[in-house]
Amino acid sequence: MDWGMKNRLSRIINPKSGHCVMLAVDHGYFGNVPGALKRFEDLNVLFEYADALMLTRGMLRNCVPAEVDKPIVLRVSAGASMLKELSNEEINVTIDDAIRLNVSAITCSIFIGGEYEKQSIMNLSKLVNWGQTYGIPVLAVTAVGREMVRDARYLGMASRMAAEMGATFVKTYYCEDFEEVTSICPAPVVIAGGRKIPERDALQMAKNAIDKGAVGVDMGRNIFQSDKPVGMIKAVREIVHNNASVDDAFEIYQNG
Ligand code: R5P
Repeated sequence: MDWGMKNRLSRIINPKSGHCVMLAVDHGYFGNVPGALKRFEDLNVLFEYADALMLTRGMLRNCVPAEVDKPIVLRVSAGASMLKELSNEEINVTIDDAIRLNVSAITCSIFIGGEYEKQSIMNLSKLVNWGQTYGIPVLAVTAVGREMVRDARYLGMASRMAAEMGATFVKTYYCEDFEEVTSICPAPVVIAGGRKIPERDALQMAKNAIDKGAVGVDMGRNIFQSDKPVGMIKAVREIVHNNASVDDAFEIYQNG
């Protein structure tokens, strides 16, 4: 791996633990603005506990002070809103602007089985080509269509395709038999949290994912929609970086 790419990636995936906790706050890009995201600045208290922030350039420029020393995973794709066909996505940010924003990685979604599957694969390929040229890692998000079953066969296939296209690391959903996903994907895998579930269940999911080969999480709603978001991100960190038990992590969450 090229020096620049390796250096950027090591800002996101901690070289000591080999793991990472990314905070996903990019939901608004397709019109999904959950309560906690409405006042984006309230999320600032979470930033110090995240290894990286995943978001769009508009929110980065408007809501994250440039002095915040956090690696940025920039979503550079956009398209249809949640009211229409989500897979109809294209690349909407130039690599020049991503570099101007000093990002550590760029990201877009691939919609395997979706109506615009091929377009999304070509989007990812474009990012990989940019990444190779400028030494910028690419995170492929395996987005799941409403009608898709989130099982190991499907998520494994989507993750493997992302790796085959040259993604530096891959984000997917946790599922039963998750080791079947990580074992066929040669690129590091992080899990999304998905919709909000009880805190203990979310911590158990993070624990299972790490035990089954994930390098970390790129979690959003299960952190910022928690009644104790700071406690929750601290608890997730303890699991991801320090192999904490779910009981110990849950106590950290409760203590806020
Ligand atoms: C997926 O397409 C976006 O990146 C989401 O905003 C992100 O995956 C959401 O994270 P979570 O599911 O943990 O809220």
